[in-house]
Order: sequence, then structure tokens, then C-alpha cells
Amino acid sequence: MSDPILSTEDLGKTFRDFWRRPRARAVDSLSLSLEPGEVYGLLGPNGSGKSTSIKLILGLLHPDKGRIRVFGKSPRDVKVKHRIGYLPEESNLYPYLDARESLRFTAALFGIDPEEREWRITQLLEMVGLSHTGRRRIGEFSKGMARRIGLAQALINDPDLVILDEPTSGLDPLGTRQVKDIIRSLAERGKTVLLSSHLLADVEDVCDRICILYGGIVRAEGPIRELLQVANHLQLQLEDLDPEKRNQLLNLLEDMLGKRPQLEPSRKDLETFFLEVVAKAREDSGEASGTRKEGELAEFLV
Ligand SMILES: Nc1ncnc2c1ncn2[C@@H]1O[C@H](COP(=O)(O)OP(=O)(O)OP(=O)(O)O)[C@@H](O)[C@H]1O
Ligand SMILES: [Mg+2]
Repeated sequence: MSDPILSTEDLGKTFRDFWRRPRARAVDSLSLSLEPGEVYGLLGPNGSGKSTSIKLILGLLHPDKGRIRVFGKSPRDVKVKHRIGYLPEESNLYPYLDARESLRFTAALFGIDPEEREWRITQLLEMVGLSHTGRRRIGEFSKGMARRIGLAQALINDPDLVILDEPTSGLDPLGTRQVKDIIRSLAERGKTVLLSSHLLADVEDVCDRICILYGGIVRAEGPIRELLQVANHLQLQLEDLDPEKRNQLLNLLEDMLGKRPQLEPSRKDLETFFLEVVAKAREDSGEASGTRKEGELAEFLV
């Protein structure tokens, strides 16, 4: 197996008050290891230590115990920081800048040269669906728009490790779908993604592996498929079965098993249904369904 992109061993952090008395044990003995190209989800209820774990991994907080390696180095190493993209829980954006100016500012921090920078910014704005905001200031942006610009900011340096704290919070279902598609495309291009969320449906769609935190302690960990498997339950999917055949099949199974199995129609999930309704409504009102590149990975990230 290749070296992990990110690993933590027995990581712990307790917040203390002015007198150094422990106030909250935010993270307790967290051990993780992320492989290249993997999407890893940190789950847990409010206050379970997701954001604190992320800040420790980024070197923004100092751990009380344990070890962190990012690309085999300390997270405080400047070279390491250049290879990480970070979307904080609450983006600290400059309210008086417009979307392009804001991305220019971040690009400048990474020392990206102006020509390359403008090219990247154009693609990123298309990708997150903000090309049309022009000179509007970020201070006027809706919550979802601020989330989108935050994501663009996290990707401007073409990072190998992308860390997203609640990437879909505040987004409508369409925005959520686009962000999930972007995350999957990033992973397909070999980038590693660590994200936190309490939106379970989002995590289920996008993550390869997850861990569930509670009180700063890992309560479950593993590949999502394995964790969600129900032992000894199997599902049979059949299309276009006429009533006669259906009865024959049920009789056959009843003879074989000694009891009649339950039949239920398949359901689509609410997300699929919602997106169908919105797409139809857009079509009916003659709107183009967003810019073509919305939700598609920016070219420079490929
Ligand atoms: N700067 C801080 N000072 C003191 N306590 C803190 C600080 N930051 C976090 N905590 C505490 O650490 C614990 C974990 O907080 P954290 O923000 O990591 O949770 P979270 O899982 O990200 O929650 P949420 O889902 O609400 O974002 C909580 O008890 C919180 O009160
Ligand atoms: Mg948090």
C-alpha cells in the first residue's frame, strides 16, 4: 500500500480555561489514515469534535497528545500548507470584495502568477456557478453563495489534499448535488478529500470511508458500504413484472422458503425526485439549466 496522505495517531485536545482547568475534551485518541484518492467523512452530532479534529490536522490548533503527519511531514510545514485546500466551517471572506477580487486575494497568498490566476478564477467561478455575480460584493451574498465562493477559494491552489468542514451547509439541493459531484470528481483525479458533515445523505453519496465521533471519541469506523450492510438481508430487484408472473414467483418462493416474502415497489430518493421537479420547472419557464460548466470540475484541477 502507498504511504497515507494524512495520518493521525492517538490525537487528543482538551480546551482549558484561563486557570488551565479542563473545560471540554473536544478530541480524544483520534487515529485516522487517509489513502490517496479517497473521500473520508467525519460524522457526528454538534460538538462531537469534527471541527476541532480538522483544525488539529491543519496545524491551526496544537494537540495535547498524539501525532499528525500530512504528506509525511508536520502540518505546520509551509510546503505542506501549499498542498492543502481548506474550506472552514465559517468562511472568513472580505465583505467588500466581489467574487473575483476575493479569489485574486487568495491566489496572491499562494504566489500564483497573474495570468494563471485569472484563468483559474474564471474556471472556478463557472464550476461553482458564480460567474454571473459580477461586481456584487460578497457581503451581499446569500449563505449558499458564500459557501460556493469558499469552495472555489479552497481549490485555487490546485491542492492534493482538500479539507472541507461542512461543505454543503446552507446549499440548496441543486448546489448540494453539484458540490457532491465536484468532490467525487476531485477524488477520481487522485485528490484526497477529508470532509465533515452531519448531513447523512450527503456523506453516504460521496464518502468511501467514514468515522462517527461522539464526545471526541471514534464510535464507528470503516468503509461505508460495509457499515451499512444489513447481515442476512438480501434485496431482489425486478423490472416490469406482470401480475401473473409476479404471483408465480411468489408461490415458488413460498414453496421454497415456507413463508411468503414481502414485496415492495422500488422508490427513488427524495433528492432525485426534487431535482427532477426543479429541472422540469426550469424547462417549463424557458430557463437554461444553469451554465453548462456548473458542477463540472475546473480544467486546471484535471
Ligand atoms: N475555542 C474553543 N474553546 C473552548 N471550547 C471549544 C472551542 N472550540 C470547540 N470547543 C468545544 O469542543 C467541543 C467540540 O467542538 P467542535 O467545534 O469540534 O464540534 P463539531 O463536531 O465541529 O460541532 P458542529 O457540528 O456544531 O460544528 C465542543 O464541546 C466545543 O464546545
Ligand atoms: Mg463543526
